[in-house]
Amino acid sequence: MKLLERVIKNSQSYQKRIVLPEGTEPRTLRATEIILNENIARIILLGNPVEIMQAAEECGVNIKGAVVVDPKTDDRRSHYADMMVEIRKSKGLSKEKALEMLNDPLVFAPMMIKNGDADGEIAGAVNSTGDVLRPAFQFVKTSPGVSVVSGAFLMFVNDPHFGHDGILVFADCAVMPDPNERELAEIAVTTAKTAKAIVGMEPRVAMLSFSTKGSAQHERVNKVVEATKIAKEMAPELKIDGELQLDAALMPDVARLKAPESEVAGRANILVFPGLEAANIGYKLVQRLGKAEAIGPVLQGMAAPINDLSRGCSVSDIVNMVAITSNQAATSFE
Ligand code: ACO
Repeated sequence: MKLLERVIKNSQSYQKRIVLPEGTEPRTLRATEIILNENIARIILLGNPVEIMQAAEECGVNIKGAVVVDPKTDDRRSHYADMMVEIRKSKGLSKEKALEMLNDPLVFAPMMIKNGDADGEIAGAVNSTGDVLRPAFQFVKTSPGVSVVSGAFLMFVNDPHFGHDGILVFADCAVMPDPNERELAEIAVTTAKTAKAIVGMEPRVAMLSFSTKGSAQHERVNKVVEATKIAKEMAPELKIDGELQLDAALMPDVARLKAPESEVAGRANILVFPGLEAANIGYKLVQRLGKAEAIGPVLQGMAAPINDLSRGCSVSDIVNMVAITSNQAATSFE
């Protein structure tokens, strides 16, 4: 796959420091060996060093070259706790509580990033999306001008006529259950940035609905129309159109009938779904029934690259995600 090869090659040149909080997890350790052997990134594993070495031995992998950090004993704990108290002062977080929270690698990892000790984080092979994201939301927060974090999937479909040579970007498939108009607009604009940064595509964003250009009247349709308007104000140069049904967004013949004036309809490469139900179900349908390869979720809108794995992830998913996170760190945060 050409895109992934390019992402991995870029990652090799960036040499970013990626922290993996699930330091004893077997797929994480196997991925670490591959990443180090192929020089894809520098890896920081969090956990008890004895337990990590033991787990690596049981997996039969060599992780020499990874930096191992124990969140329970590390020298930076007190400094990180002071930072946490400052960040959460409006919520009344005490230093004692912050120190206790730092025992959790999923809290320690974002604090490493916040303090400039790591460039990106990936977790979620054994932890839920909420547990990975909550500390990142609380301590790393969103990037300037963005209020919501969302999750995009790179979808590699088997027909180069669709999207950007067979690559489409779907969002938000992972985070916001029911975005309002403004949030949906932000999701569209940040997804366009992700698509440009990682895929190198010229974004053509379709704001999806069950209606095309007023064919149905409903408050859910109004939400998409309003979100499209806000997104255009946020990014006037962006090619974005809505509301569009999926067929109008992707099929030139349908677009000619339903949205003949649109510069997006019939050739969209970014699909923004109206809510998480449609997006999450939609990407899995394309992946499972359409046999597309799905890479993600690539989290966007956060002030640093932090990505969440699916608990069903494979070793190569972790390797790919480390490379994508390194690319995000190098292209979107420097
Ligand atoms: N962007 C930025 N900040 C956010 C976001 C967001 N999308 N969502 C919540 N926050 C912040 C809140 O403002 C709050 O900050 P504060 O403590 O400073 O006030 C903090 O995060 C916690 O907010 P809660 O509302 O308590 O959020 P909660 O932890 O309940 O939920 C979560 C957040 C877990 C992401 C929730 O939206 C969720 O469960 N989403 C669905 C995730 C999921 O299951 N996805 C499908 C699986 S993934 C897949 O299939 C690929």
